[in-house]
Amino acid sequence: MKNKVYIETYGCQMNIADSELVMGILNNVGYDVTRDVHDADVILLNTCSIRENAEQRIHGRLGNLKTFKNKNPNTVIGILGCMAERLRSELVHEKSIVDLVVGPDEYRRLPELIDVVYAGEKGLGVKLSRTETYDDIIPYREDGLQAWISVMRGCDKFCTFCVVPFTRGRERSRSLSSIVDEVKHLSGRGFREITLLGQNVNSYRDEGMDFADLLDSCAKVDPLMRIRFTTSHPQDLSDKLLETIAAHKNLCNYIHLPVQSGSDRILKLMNRTYTVEHYLNLIEKARKIIPGVSFSTDIIAGFPTETWEDHLGTLDVMNKVKYDGAYMFKYSPREGTKSYKMGDDVSEEAKTKRLQEIIDLQQKHSLELNELMINKTEEVLVEGTSKKSTEFLSGRTDTNKVVIFPRSEGIEEGDYVSVKISKVTSATLFGETVAITNKREVPVQAAVQSA
Ligand code: SAH
Ligand code: SF4
Ligand code: F3S
Repeated sequence: MKNKVYIETYGCQMNIADSELVMGILNNVGYDVTRDVHDADVILLNTCSIRENAEQRIHGRLGNLKTFKNKNPNTVIGILGCMAERLRSELVHEKSIVDLVVGPDEYRRLPELIDVVYAGEKGLGVKLSRTETYDDIIPYREDGLQAWISVMRGCDKFCTFCVVPFTRGRERSRSLSSIVDEVKHLSGRGFREITLLGQNVNSYRDEGMDFADLLDSCAKVDPLMRIRFTTSHPQDLSDKLLETIAAHKNLCNYIHLPVQSGSDRILKLMNRTYTVEHYLNLIEKARKIIPGVSFSTDIIAGFPTETWEDHLGTLDVMNKVKYDGAYMFKYSPREGTKSYKMGDDVSEEAKTKRLQEIIDLQQKHSLELNELMINKTEEVLVEGTSKKSTEFLSGRTDTNKVVIFPRSEGIEEGDYVSVKISKVTSATLFGETVAITNKREVPVQAAVQSA
């Protein structure tokens, strides 16, 4: 009987994409993938280290798995991802139930390292690489509508608060041709949306071609395939990139452009390499080049030495940009980063208060922007049944807003429909279907290709 592997993924989209890679690697050497942890011979946790609470969750999960391991001592338990890279052998030494610790650049060695565990040793693979991109590996993906594609790995930006350059190593890009081939393959399987991933996609390079060239090539594969990307760093967002987005209907008019703080002094301490003025000019330029473009951001509250004035600067940027969405965090000191040495001098109370103000303001903006959508007709990609009621369908606009509308005859997952918006909340749009603008043709061979 084949061995079965189960994987649980924490952290960012890059980890989701990596889990698919890992499943691809193990599936190639004969492992079956299972969704049931009780059925697994190998249990893998693909982990995140970005903030303290991300790591706490994993420690908690390992606590649960301990009982499981005691009952099933032959089950292999492995830690992958950023926490594996950050804590390395500490994990196998301190956690007796952990058999395997493998960092993001050593996944090719997983089959061999699992065998090491079966031979009675601990399996450890935590070297970072300057070249590994897994370009030749086909990720294991179930059929669906939406897929992630990593186009680059690592990060060279060294923002002073961030562990990613340490856990994922130096920046490197995959080849443009292999990415385009993957898009073609997914289009053939009936996928309707892909998201190109990198910590800083704007520094994508392949033999003189840049990220705009990559987007252009991907957009041409299938005009009905929506293409998204994340994350853009404000330092290198080029005019060429903005013009490319404007030129293709299927390149979504949505840019995730993390600002982190609205104070030049804090941005400098963060090593973000731009000023508030540069950032706001960029937003203004993008709005001119791509009419109707929407923005989302990441914000950190309570970075070391952040004063009330600095915090007001952040609220001010939010008021000037009016983001469609934001990921908002309390600063979390990470050992080994530069800001760790700056101390963590903003009190927990002040962090909580500032974060709450940021969240409240964002909610207000999201609602205001959504209210502007009332009576507009939007093209929506149908994703499936609404979470709350089977009588409703759910989908997304080009600008990544969730739309709920009544289920009606003939409309299925993967279709494009036009929906007239009638009601909104800060998180969701509600409307009535006007027409099906494009039906998805599900390819007959989909099941075969995914095998
Ligand atoms: N590469 C992306 C984001 C990577 S991490 C970028 O540059 O924008 C996602 C977000 O987590 C960051 O944008 C930041 O807002 C947040 N983050 C990273 N390290 C953090 C820390 N130590 N404390 C709090 N938030 C952090
Ligand atoms: Fe971290 Fe900065 Fe790199 Fe983003 S750009 S991953 S925040 S170091
Ligand atoms: Fe977390 Fe690593 Fe992603 S630290 S956010 S899983 S790159």
